[in-house]
Amino acid sequence: MLFFDFVKRAYYAAVSPPTPTKRDDAIRIGLLGASTIAPLAVITPAKSHPEVIVAAVAARDRERARQYAKKHSIPIVHNTYQDLLDDPAIDAVYIALPNSLHYEWALRSIQAGKHVLLEKPSCSNAEEARKLFRHPLVTGPNAPVLLEAFHYQFHPAWQAFLYHVNHLPWGATVDHVYSQQYLPKGYLNKDDIRFKYGLSGGCLMDLATYPLSCVRQVLGRGEHLNPIEAMHRPLPVASDGSQVEPQIDVAIKATYATDSDKTAEIRGDLLYGGGPSILPASWSHSLPSFKWPMTEARSGEILLSGQGNEERHFVQRKVTLWNHLIPTVYHRIDICDKHTIRRGEEIVKTWDVMEHLKAYNWPAGDVRAQTYQEWWTTWRCQLEEFVNRIKGRAGSGVWIDGEESIAQMEAIDETYIQAGLNARPTSAFEIATE
Ligand SMILES: NC(=O)c1ccc[n+]([C@@H]2O[C@H](COP(=O)([O-])OP(=O)(O)OC[C@H]3O[C@@H](n4cnc5c(N)ncnc54)[C@H](OP(=O)(O)O)[C@@H]3O)[C@@H](O)[C@H]2O)c1
Repeated sequence: MLFFDFVKRAYYAAVSPPTPTKRDDAIRIGLLGASTIAPLAVITPAKSHPEVIVAAVAARDRERARQYAKKHSIPIVHNTYQDLLDDPAIDAVYIALPNSLHYEWALRSIQAGKHVLLEKPSCSNAEEARKLFRHPLVTGPNAPVLLEAFHYQFHPAWQAFLYHVNHLPWGATVDHVYSQQYLPKGYLNKDDIRFKYGLSGGCLMDLATYPLSCVRQVLGRGEHLNPIEAMHRPLPVASDGSQVEPQIDVAIKATYATDSDKTAEIRGDLLYGGGPSILPASWSHSLPSFKWPMTEARSGEILLSGQGNEERHFVQRKVTLWNHLIPTVYHRIDICDKHTIRRGEEIVKTWDVMEHLKAYNWPAGDVRAQTYQEWWTTWRCQLEEFVNRIKGRAGSGVWIDGEESIAQMEAIDETYIQAGLNARPTSAFEIATE
């Protein structure tokens, strides 16, 4: 049964989603860039959404855009990104350009009156994010919808994890959170946009922006993350010993403390190697390696009973979400209560009580579970809420507002500075105002 459910979810999510008839008032989305991520993030999710049509694409090279349009059955090909924005038949755009172009094209799109689904990270740095999300064109009445595409937050698994983290028993609260995301070595090409500082690349600007976002979500908006230590691994040096992109972090590890003494740690790696752990390191250091995306929140120890020199019973809760990134295929929420009996400082006994949960949909009885489907990917959930917002509907209640996107960029900048690197460069683009 479990295997059958897995196959059904994977088939509908990735191979052949149900394709309902499109409604007359469907939102017509245009793609800026013939990007690698668009099929996963928008093109496939749109197939199962009755209110979304992927109507157009523009790329720097028209022939490339034409081939992309043919492959993905996109009816309109525009010669330039601006031509797509000037097309009155387009209601919304999906921006999956290099990070250095997010600010400019998001502003241009908003100025053209298009709703914007903007890939993460929203901008190159916090200065750009403040200028974008606080721009009168974005904050004014009837402004188009602008959403940073942190898709994982829209999935019920992440929301179930947050629920358990925010509802700890015994009056406990989270005092430490850890999150990691790794990409096996060899997955990305050497000339990938992620390895170029001029395109606002770097691990923290890409893969590790997730762990940073995850720990910020768990600790909540009120907690500012002060970086304590941040270390990065640079690109491997060229054969002549030169370092062509000295500002690029291929991997990053950072620890933080908040003003209320909570702590956090993130780790990310775009070129994770080391091979299977069963092989000796000397054999496998150049092989790719894999680790699940994971976020873990831990409470402090709580005294349940006992006092003074008598036996005292303590408990500490740890809530872990395995695979916050692609939970539709597989995820697991572990709730582990570590019990300890102490006499004075001596540990008399310890034991763990474990519970394992899944959340492919909202809880049974929750009205949202009637709309959402177990096979919906994080990107399909995100598209649902993007459309709900455009249509003025309440939706699931999950949303990422501009101030949250600004706070995320501020955390990225501060981490880079702690790591001895520069925040990514600011775009020279200025919006023309009549
Ligand atoms: N949400 C997610 O899970 C997720 C996953 C991966 C990536 N992303 C984000 O999505 C964005 C794109 O990532 P991707 O992996 O799809 O990258 P990609 O395949 O390299 O696509 C980038 C697009 O930008 C266009 N582009 C415009 N100017 C460019 C320049 N100077 N150099 C290179 N490309 C340029 C490209 O060309 P054309 O105009 O010719 O098409 C291409 O279509 C990034 O912001 C990334 O962080 C998000």
